[in-house]
Amino acid sequence: MKRVIAIDGPAGAGKSTVARRVATALGYLYVDTGAMYRAMTLKVLRHGIDPADRQRVAQLARETDIALATGPEGAPQVVLDGVDVTAQLREPSVDQAVSAVAAIPEVRQRLLEVQRALARRGRVVLEGRDTGTHVAPDADLKVYLTASPEERARRRYRELVAAGHRVTLEEVAEALRQRDRQDMTRPAAPLKRAADAIEIDTTGRTVEAVVEEILRYCREGD
Ligand code: DC
Repeated sequence: MKRVIAIDGPAGAGKSTVARRVATALGYLYVDTGAMYRAMTLKVLRHGIDPADRQRVAQLARETDIALATGPEGAPQVVLDGVDVTAQLREPSVDQAVSAVAAIPEVRQRLLEVQRALARRGRVVLEGRDTGTHVAPDADLKVYLTASPEERARRRYRELVAAGHRVTLEEVAEALRQRDRQDMTRPAAPLKRAADAIEIDTTGRTVEAVVEEILRYCREGD
C-alpha cells in the first residue's frame, strides 16, 4: 500500500472532495495544504495588510502558528493561532487574496515545514498545488487532477451559492482564471504537474469513480 499520496491540480478540479474521501477510505490523515494558505490569508486580511506586501506578510507569517486538527466526526480543521477557522476559509475575500499570499516565499517556507513534518509521518494524503513537486517529491503516488475550465467554474459556483454567497457564474469563472494564472506563473513552487504524476481528468465523472480509480493505484503492487 502506498503510504504518501500527493494530489495536485488547479482550483475546482475536485481535489478536496476526492482527496478527503481517499484519505477516509485508507484511514490516512488528510492534509489540505490550500487551507493552510487560506488561514494565513485570513490573518493577513484581518490585520488589514496588503496581501502583496511581501515584507509585512513575511513578518506576520513568522508570528503565526497554523496546524491541522480533527474535529468531531473526523472533520478536518485548520487551527490558526489556537483557534479553529475552518468555516471562514472559503469566503470570496480569501479566494481573491490567497494567490498573492501563497506567492510569498517566506509564507511558503513556513508552511512547507509543517507540511513536510506531516508527510514524514506517512499514511497521509497531501492535497494542493505543489505537494508532488515540492512538499513530498518522493511520494509513493502522485495524482494530477484536472477538469475543463467550464466545469471547474460551475462546481465552484454551486459551492458558493450553497454557502449563501451572491455571485454570478461569469464572476466565478473570471476569478478562477485569475487564480490559475497567478498560481501557474509565480516563481516560488508554481502549480505544475510532476513528471511522474498520473493525470486524471474529472470532467463529467463522478467523485466515486475518480476515488475508486485512485484507490486502485494506491493498492497497486500490494
Ligand atoms: O486548493 P485551494 O483552492 O484551497 O488553494 C488556495 C490557494 O492556495 C491556491 O489558489 C494556491 C495556494 N496553494 C498553494 O500555493 N500551494 C499549495 N500547495 C496549495 C494551495
